[in-house]
Amino acid sequence: MTDLATGPVFTDDYWREPFAVLGEVREQAPVREVELPDGGTTWLVTRYADARSVMADPRFVKDFRNSLPPEQRANVPGIPSPGGDMMLLNDPPVHTRLRKLVVKAFTVRRVAALRPRVETIAGALLEALTPTATVDLVDAYAVPLPTAVICELLGVPVEDQDAFGAWSRTMIDDSGEAATMQANASMTAYLQELVERKRAQPDEALLSALIEVSEEGEQLSTSEVVAMGMLLLIAGHETTATLITTAVEAMLRDPDLRDRLAASDQDGLRAAVEEFLRWGSPIAQTPLRFAAEDVTFDGGVTVPRGAMVMVSLAAANHDPARFERPDDLDPDRDTTGHVSFGHGLHFCLGASLARLEAEVALRTLLDRYPSFTVGADLPVERRRSVLVNAWPRLPVLLAP
Ligand code: HEM
Repeated sequence: MTDLATGPVFTDDYWREPFAVLGEVREQAPVREVELPDGGTTWLVTRYADARSVMADPRFVKDFRNSLPPEQRANVPGIPSPGGDMMLLNDPPVHTRLRKLVVKAFTVRRVAALRPRVETIAGALLEALTPTATVDLVDAYAVPLPTAVICELLGVPVEDQDAFGAWSRTMIDDSGEAATMQANASMTAYLQELVERKRAQPDEALLSALIEVSEEGEQLSTSEVVAMGMLLLIAGHETTATLITTAVEAMLRDPDLRDRLAASDQDGLRAAVEEFLRWGSPIAQTPLRFAAEDVTFDGGVTVPRGAMVMVSLAAANHDPARFERPDDLDPDRDTTGHVSFGHGLHFCLGASLARLEAEVALRTLLDRYPSFTVGADLPVERRRSVLVNAWPRLPVLLAP
C-alpha cells in the first residue's frame, strides 16, 4: 500500500479493500486531507469519536456560504437549483423548514404500513426470475425493489422508473463531470415535468402532497418540490440497494450464515440487518460539510475555516476503539451506536424504510430460495464511488 498518512487514499487498493485502507488512514492520520477521484480535495475524518462529533457540531455546515464571514455571504451565489434546494445541502433554518414538511411521511408507523406492499413487490421480482439460470441479483432484485418502493411513495409512473435509476447511478458513481451534469439535467427536467403533471392531476402520493403544501401555505416552491423529489429518489434507492447487495454477498461467501439467517426469526433477521449496516457501511463517506471556523481535533490537527470535510462512516463503523473485532461480521454483536445512517440534524430520514426494505428483501429471498448460491465468479472490485460502498453485480443461482 502507498503511504496512507499523506499519499492517495482512493486508489485501486481502496476499491478492493476499502476497510483495510481506511483502517490504515485512521491509524496513521485520522484527520487528513485527501484527493478525490474527480481531482478535488477534502479533509477526511476516520475515527468513530470524531465522526460523531463532526456530524453533531454546528461549526460544520452543509451550505458552504455559511462558512464564509457574514459580510461576504450575501455576495456569493449558492449551488444552483435543484441541488441548492435540497435539505441535505442546507442548514437551519432552511433545513428545519424543509425537513418538517416530509418527516411525517417517514415515521416508523407510516413505514410499517408499507410492509405488505414491499412484500408483494419483492415476491413479484423473484417470481420473474429463472431459478436455474445465473442471474445478477443487483440488477434483478437489490436495485429494482427499493426503486419501485420509493417511486410508488412519490408517485413516479412505473414506466419511468428505469430511466431515473440510470440517471441516479451516473450521478453517484465517478462517471466524469459531463455525464454527471447531463444526468442531473435530465432528471431535473423529468421531475419538473412530473410536478406539472401532478399539479394538473393530483394523486394520493407524496409528490402531490408536497405540491399541495406549496400551494396552500407557499411553504415549498416548485423548485423545492423538485429538489425534494430528487433527493428522496436518489437517497431512497441506491443506498438501500447497496445494503441488500452487501447482505447477499456476505451470504454467498458464507453459506453457514445464509442457513442461519434462513432459520432466524424476525428479531434475528432485524439484528442481522443492523450488523450488515455497520459492517458494510452502505454510505462509506458522507456528502460534504464545510468548517465554519478553525476546528482543532484531538491530536492537534486543525481544519481551517472554509475547508471541505467528509466523514468516513465506513472507517468509524470499523474503529476498534468503538467495536471489538470490527472487521468480523457478527449478527450477535451489539451494534448500538453504528453511524451508517449518520448522526445529528441530517440523520437519515429514510432509516425505518431502509430497515424494512432490507428485512423484507432478505426474508423473501431466504424463504423462497434458501439454498441460493454463487452462479459465477464474484467481483473483486467495488463500484468506483467514494460515497457508496457497493458491489457492481452479484451472479447468483437461486435454486442450484
Ligand atoms: C440522509 C444513509 C436510505 C433519505 C442520510 C445520511 C446518511 C444516510 C448517512 C446523512 C448524510 C449526511 O450527514 O451528510 C442511508 C442509508 C440508507 C438510506 C445507509 C439505506 C441503507 C434512505 C432512504 C431514504 C433516505 C430509503 C428515503 C426515503 C434520506 C434523506 C436524507 C438522508 C432525505 C437527508 C436528511 C437531512 O438532510 O435532514 N442517509 N440512507 N435514505 N437520507 Fe438516507
